[in-house]
Amino acid sequence: MVKRMRSDLGPFSLQKHNHVFVKFAVSFLLVGLAFRFLFWDSFSFSSVVEPPPPLVAKEEVQAPLISFPVQTPDSVDFPGNDSQIFQKVAEKCDLFVGSWIEDLSGPAYTNESCHVIENHQNCMTNGRPDSGYLHWRWKPRDCELPRFNPEKFLDMMINKSWAFIGDSISRNHVQSLLCILSQVEPAVEVYHDEEYRSKIWKFPSHNFTLSVVWTPFLIKAAIFEDMNGVSSSEIQLYLDSLDSKWKEQYKNFDYVVIAGGKWFLKTAIYHENGTVTGCHYCSGNNLTELGFEYAYRKALQLVFDFIGNSDHKATVFLRTTTPDHFENGEWFSGGYCNRTLPFKEGEIDPRDVDKIMRDIELEEFEKNSNRRVDLKLLDTTSLSLLRPDGHPGPYRQSHPFAEGETKVQNDCLHWCLPGPIDSWNDLLMEILDQQQ
Ligand SMILES: *[C@@H]1O[C@H](CO)[C@@H](O)[C@H](O)[C@H]1NC(C)=O
Ligand SMILES: *[C@@H]1O[C@H](CO)[C@@H](O)[C@H](O)[C@H]1NC(C)=O
Ligand SMILES: *[C@@H]1O[C@H](CO)[C@@H](O)[C@H](O)[C@H]1NC(C)=O
Ligand SMILES: *[C@@H]1O[C@H](CO)[C@@H](O)[C@H](O)[C@H]1NC(C)=O
Ligand SMILES: *[C@@H]1O[C@H](CO)[C@@H](O)[C@H](O)[C@H]1NC(C)=O
Ligand SMILES: *[C@@H]1O[C@H](CO)[C@@H](O)[C@H](O)[C@H]1NC(C)=O
Ligand SMILES: *[C@@H]1O[C@H](CO)[C@@H](O)[C@H](O)[C@H]1NC(C)=O
Repeated sequence: MVKRMRSDLGPFSLQKHNHVFVKFAVSFLLVGLAFRFLFWDSFSFSSVVEPPPPLVAKEEVQAPLISFPVQTPDSVDFPGNDSQIFQKVAEKCDLFVGSWIEDLSGPAYTNESCHVIENHQNCMTNGRPDSGYLHWRWKPRDCELPRFNPEKFLDMMINKSWAFIGDSISRNHVQSLLCILSQVEPAVEVYHDEEYRSKIWKFPSHNFTLSVVWTPFLIKAAIFEDMNGVSSSEIQLYLDSLDSKWKEQYKNFDYVVIAGGKWFLKTAIYHENGTVTGCHYCSGNNLTELGFEYAYRKALQLVFDFIGNSDHKATVFLRTTTPDHFENGEWFSGGYCNRTLPFKEGEIDPRDVDKIMRDIELEEFEKNSNRRVDLKLLDTTSLSLLRPDGHPGPYRQSHPFAEGETKVQNDCLHWCLPGPIDSWNDLLMEILDQQQ
């Protein structure tokens, strides 16, 4: 099974640590550990997963670096009415450029006041000792970002339906929203799939429906991973078909936050027009390496084509890729994220993969911004990059060091709840508000 490792990621370099990874994969497989314990549905520990992006070396992290240029919606030529409104917003203030400033008021909810925090993201309950990471708020450079107002949000959402569509980071995001809203009205879970990856909640007194749809590629995919994230075969990706799971429900949604990304880094065989046209990270089968960029771009094009041509009109947010903060290793090789302070603007560079993914996202977004669709960018990549302190790290497990353990698996990809991901909802609320 451990035959599909390659160390290149196309045009950009990746550290050569595959042998390490393979060793890890083998030993994990041999002992039959439950790999689901970390990213079972985002980064699995299966042997056919390509290693995640290279580490930002510690020296690099500490040296002040120029951050990547933030393309803002005002560089987009929006025709039509919605867009004029959006342009006005953009002129007023770019919500996605700014810095994290101290805020003693603390989070909108805690582990005590929210009951739907997934164990792996419940850092407070899991014994994370520091709490400084809870006392920052995002401050756009040219304006204030008001705190999410759950009463106002729910009043805007009477008789409406909202969906988060994507991978486990989308689930992380929906849980933040659920926690914030549950301070006003508790949500009632009305549906979950077998694996508890897709769910629907109702807020009865507002007749508001909130969904999360698990579709890590957004397009049609055959994934041969068991619940432990162990893969028995390569992923088959169909670059000309959307995942019907969300496509068929789309007509039910008034608002959609769609996001893709990290799953495209995995080994996969690409299909188009009923034939295999290439692959990513495969070897030994004489297929053309097309690169994850190719598949990710195709996937986003399919998404935008579908939304653009649909008779159903929804407000659609494209959320940009989420950065991880593993240092001195990866998730499989002892990487950790024990920083307790945000970075300042310009102190950290994005990894190559995140930059490439975000560039694809922005390019495809801009190409589609002239359609008659209410399309909005939720460009959270750079502001999230500044929050290495916001991940569970070892506190993805309850009291990881209680038994004197020294080697503990870290999660430096998902976000603690409460935590910096709550600000993604502040931004959603502000964009909605400015549009009114
Ligand atoms: C834009 O809005 C105005 C009124 O606000 C309306 O008269 C006009 O037809 C709209 N244009 C388009 C392209 O929808
Ligand atoms: C919430 O976290 C605190 C530590 O921050 C802990 O003492 C408390 O027991 C936790 N509450 C619940 C309900 O898990
Ligand atoms: C709830 O909202 C849906 C969708 O707008 C609507 O069809 C339904 O009648 C509403 N139900 C109530 C009880 O208001
Ligand atoms: C919600 O839907 C119900 C039933 O269709 C309707 O009576 C009510 O006016 C709607 N409320 C809003 C705010 O649209
Ligand atoms: C798939 O078919 C379409 C239409 O028949 C064609 O435009 C496209 O180039 C084909 N794609 C590939 C990769 O063969
Ligand atoms: C591999 O693919 C190349 C180019 O398509 C072809 O020329 C070659 O014969 C193939 N080799 C094998 C072993 O199939
Ligand atoms: C983070 O962990 C490393 C390695 O264990 C240690 O050297 C460093 O001092 C830690 N940093 C903080 C802020 O705890």
